[in-house]
Amino acid sequence: MDKKTIIVTGGAGFIGSNFVYYMLKKYPNYRIVCLDSLTYAGNLSTLKKAMENENFRFVKADIRDAEAVDNLFTEEKPDIVVNFAAESHVDRSIEDPQIFLETNIMGPKVLMDACLNHKVSRYHQVSTDEVYGDLPLDRPDLFFTEKTNLHASSPYSASKASADLVTMAYHRTYGLPATISRCSNNYGPYHFPEKLIPLMIINALNDKKLPVYGDGLNVRDWLYVEDHCKAIDMIIHADCVGEVYNVGGHNEMANIDIVKLILKELGKPESLIEFVEDRKGHDRRYAIDPTKIREQLGWEPETKFENGIVKTIKWYLDHKDWWEEIISGDYKNYYKKMYEGEA
Ligand code: NAD
Ligand code: DAU
Repeated sequence: MDKKTIIVTGGAGFIGSNFVYYMLKKYPNYRIVCLDSLTYAGNLSTLKKAMENENFRFVKADIRDAEAVDNLFTEEKPDIVVNFAAESHVDRSIEDPQIFLETNIMGPKVLMDACLNHKVSRYHQVSTDEVYGDLPLDRPDLFFTEKTNLHASSPYSASKASADLVTMAYHRTYGLPATISRCSNNYGPYHFPEKLIPLMIINALNDKKLPVYGDGLNVRDWLYVEDHCKAIDMIIHADCVGEVYNVGGHNEMANIDIVKLILKELGKPESLIEFVEDRKGHDRRYAIDPTKIREQLGWEPETKFENGIVKTIKWYLDHKDWWEEIISGDYKNYYKKMYEGEA
């Protein structure tokens, strides 16, 4: 494999950090440069092992900062840019949409301008299945394909859909060599404690109530994070400029079933479950049709949910230091406001 330099934005977050480790391991001759502004969701301790690798560099910068981005591109001359950086939590976007629109739309715009100026050979926008809105529970025959209309529900998903449109506009208007992937819900190591699976594992371990929104029947299509990394790796190395790929492993599950499974694995009682007020505008069901990426690029998920969830629970048991540090900081105030009604 030729030597390449890849800028990975948002590499101190959940999926970005998993991607950094995946790429460092798979391509020992690549240079991986992580650009991350370290918001509440970014964590340098996550990248501790990567820092020991001479092919890795971390740069603290904001994707909205055109000068910082341009300076980094001048220094590193990247071949590929993969943009994971985003505000990613739906509940936070409902509380305060502003930063979501700024980071998730203007951030990619700044990166794409830099890609054009520096003649980067691929810009990859990491998007989400949420751009398609939701599907009804009583139509299990329906799935999101790449041709499904964009129909976002939350300020978060609207900002991601906007970024997709801007990416495609840059491709068509300016010839930006761009690709987009729209993945379903990921789970695995380094998942920030505010999200369903880590929140439920951590609360169960601490014998705290497990807050399930609404009736708990909302369905998400879960994919082990490494399988998402593999899909992005395949896309950025394929001759597929201008294409959009859905990524998902046909693993639909109701929230309540996930919560019960976690309790069972940890030997905790179901009496910890507490049904709470529903999320505003809560999407009912997501389900990806991954036919295109399978047929065109040969992508298949490798980790079955029953194995991935056990691995993930074990990871949280083995890495208490990582999440205890997070939940004892600013996160405490977020949790009180979100779940305990305190201002
Ligand atoms: P995350 O919240 O765990 O991490 C986001 C990272 O981006 C953090 O390290 C944060 O510091 C950084 N960041 C935020 N704003 C920034 C800015 N202005 N400049 C530089 N860095 C900034 O998110 P995640 O769950 O890892 O998601 C990564 C990407 O994948 C997002 O674009 C998200 O929309 C997409 N996605 C996530 C999922 C999922 O299930 N988590 C599924 C599909 C797509
Ligand atoms: O589908 C991909 C998306 O998945 C990504 O684009 C987002 O960045 C990512 O955060 C995720 O969004 P969701 O809203 O699906 O994930 P979350 O973990 O927040 O919630 C999953 C489901 O669990 C959802 O139906 C809401 C529910 N939930 C969540 C929390 C945090 C609860 O019932 N209780 C909770 O406390």
